[in-house]
Amino acid sequence: MTQRALVTGGAGFIGSHVADLFLAEGWDVTILDDFSSGKPENVPARATVHRASITEPSSAALVRDGRFDVVMHLAAQIDVRKSVADPAFDAAVNIGGTLNLLEAVRHSGHATRFIFTSSGGAQYGDLVPRPTPEGADKDPASPYGITKLAAEYYLSYYARIHGMDTVALRYANVYGPRQDPHGEAGVVAIFCGRILDGTPLTVFGTGEQTRDYVFGPDVARANLLAAHASLPAPSRLDDRGFNIGTGIETSVLALAETLQRVAGVTTAIEHAPPRAGEQSASCISPAKAQAQLGWAPAVSLDDGLRATFEFFKARRAHA
Ligand SMILES: NC(=O)c1ccc[n+]([C@@H]2O[C@H](COP(=O)([O-])OP(=O)(O)OC[C@H]3O[C@@H](n4cnc5c(N)ncnc54)[C@H](O)[C@@H]3O)[C@@H](O)[C@H]2O)c1
Repeated sequence: MTQRALVTGGAGFIGSHVADLFLAEGWDVTILDDFSSGKPENVPARATVHRASITEPSSAALVRDGRFDVVMHLAAQIDVRKSVADPAFDAAVNIGGTLNLLEAVRHSGHATRFIFTSSGGAQYGDLVPRPTPEGADKDPASPYGITKLAAEYYLSYYARIHGMDTVALRYANVYGPRQDPHGEAGVVAIFCGRILDGTPLTVFGTGEQTRDYVFGPDVARANLLAAHASLPAPSRLDDRGFNIGTGIETSVLALAETLQRVAGVTTAIEHAPPRAGEQSASCISPAKAQAQLGWAPAVSLDDGLRATFEFFKARRAHA
């Protein structure tokens, strides 16, 4: 029988790559999205679309009655700065919306794997070893990081107390075609735009701060493997948490230089004062995802940045 997947946030950057891959693998795909940042052109033609907020009763009804084999929950308030400006809204969407869906799965009576999209860049903080393993101390520095971690605790609770089948994928900084400049790897989209405009790339502080950049379609493949994986029952928060990153640290300056090289265009790099509260380094270990999900990143930074730049260039040409 055809397997059924619900992708919340499927009109967004990463969710649309997930929807594409599951459709290509023969799944029946439904997308739940309020299109607050998602775009109709991201939605694959063969997907069924339910337009609503994850906080609404109609979304709970969709999950309760949809008999989904897997719910991949990517819809979120994704902007760290917005979470600082309006933490109550961030919590209403990222905790309230997630709870709305988890309760719906609980009441559905259907065996659904619930795969939550967490963050490996926003919850470990600065004081952990790198590449950071899942069991490292959590110390989120923003309301966004707090709501992602809080949602993971709810997942752990639903798994242990209600026997639900939950997984949390902690993405590193995801970049690629269709990416949103407000996301955790927004710098890639911003730099692509600047290169196409021929304007300088702005680097905050020294540019030596590092991130772990992982390619969107690689992340989609982690969702597919997580949907199929046979996993032991969890007893602690991190048991069903998986880092989805490359384990490779790249500085903002190196990112700017690599992007200019693959784009074949050199623009000036200008420095602006460091941003208050910005994390100095982040890099997560994919070792557990490799061992338990069979996932490893396949696309190099050069190839991924090239594909991303070409996407923004083509979009500019058609605008
Ligand atoms: N981009 C990254 O680097 C990164 C890193 C770690 C985790 N994540 C997580 O990955 C997920 C997808 O992020 P993205 O980068 O693709 O962002 P995105 O903005 O492109 O996608 C988010 C989607 O969710 C939808 N959405 C937002 N609020 C909604 C609501 N209340 N109800 C229904 N739909 C809603 C938006 O319309 C959009 O289509 C998010 O959960 C984000 O926190 C992203």
